[in-house]
Amino acid sequence: MDLPSLLLCILLEVLAVNCLDVAQERIVGGYAPVPHSIKYIVSIQTTERQHICGGSLINKYWTITAAHCDIGIKNMMIVAGDYSLTIYEGTEQEIMPHLLVPHPEYNETTNNNDIMLIKLRAPVYLNNYVSIALLPRQDASIAEGRMCRVSGWGFVSPNGGEIPSTLRTVKLPIVSTQNCNSSQSFDGSITGNMLCAGFSAGGKDACQGDSGGPLVCEGRVYGLVSWGRGCAEPQFPGVYTAVSKYRRWIDNTIFSYYSRCDKD
Ligand code: ARG
Repeated sequence: MDLPSLLLCILLEVLAVNCLDVAQERIVGGYAPVPHSIKYIVSIQTTERQHICGGSLINKYWTITAAHCDIGIKNMMIVAGDYSLTIYEGTEQEIMPHLLVPHPEYNETTNNNDIMLIKLRAPVYLNNYVSIALLPRQDASIAEGRMCRVSGWGFVSPNGGEIPSTLRTVKLPIVSTQNCNSSQSFDGSITGNMLCAGFSAGGKDACQGDSGGPLVCEGRVYGLVSWGRGCAEPQFPGVYTAVSKYRRWIDNTIFSYYSRCDKD
C-alpha cells in the first residue's frame, strides 16, 4: 500500500472507532490506555460473553462493582486480564462467581449504596496482566479538583460484529458534593455515600456500560461508576459510589466469608 492510502486507511479507522464510541456511549472523551496497564479492572459479562459492567479486583477472591450490576449469579462471569473484548488475547482469565453480596441497603430508586462484592469460585492468578486494586481507608476524603481516572468498556452492541472494543480511560476532577447538589445540577440527589467527578463544561465522562468500574484517585479506588444524567453533559458530572464510606462493610464482608467451607 502506498503512503497516501495508508494514511487514509488510518484516518478512516480512527473516525470509525470514534463514531462507534459515540454510538455505543463508551467512556466519553477518553482514550485507549496502554494495553494491560490497568490490571485490576475486570469485565463483568453474561455467560454468553456479553459485557454488562466493569469491576475491580480487590484480592484474589473478590471483585468490587456496583449493586445495579447484579444480573444474578447464574448468568454472570468475571473476566480478568482483558483489553479487547472481541479479540482473544490469551491473557484473559474467566472466573465464575461463587457468591454475590449486593449492599443490603442498596436503593434502586435513589441509587444509594450502589455497591456489590463478588466472591470468585476460584482465585485469579496474579501476573503481568492481572493485579489487585487498593481501596481507601474508611471515611477517607478526596478533595475537590483532585484528578482521578475512570476506565471501562461500555456496551458492545450484540449486532456490532467484529468491532474493536478495547478499554477506554479518561481523567476527571472531583466535584464537591455541594456543587453537585446545586439546583443547576443534581439538586439534592447526591447523598453522603456518593462522589461526583467531571468538568463543568462536560465532554468527558463515564457512560452506560462503564458501571461498577473504578474511579481511581491517588492510586486507590475511591469511586464506582454508578449513575448520571445522560453522559458528559455540561453541569452534570458522573456520580460514583463513594467507596471510602464502605471500607468497613467491605472488610467485614470479606472476613465473614474467609475460609468458610460452605458446600454448595
Ligand atoms: N448506570 C450506568 C451503567 O449502568 C452508568 C452511568 C454513568 N453515567 C455517567 N454519566 N457517568 O452503565
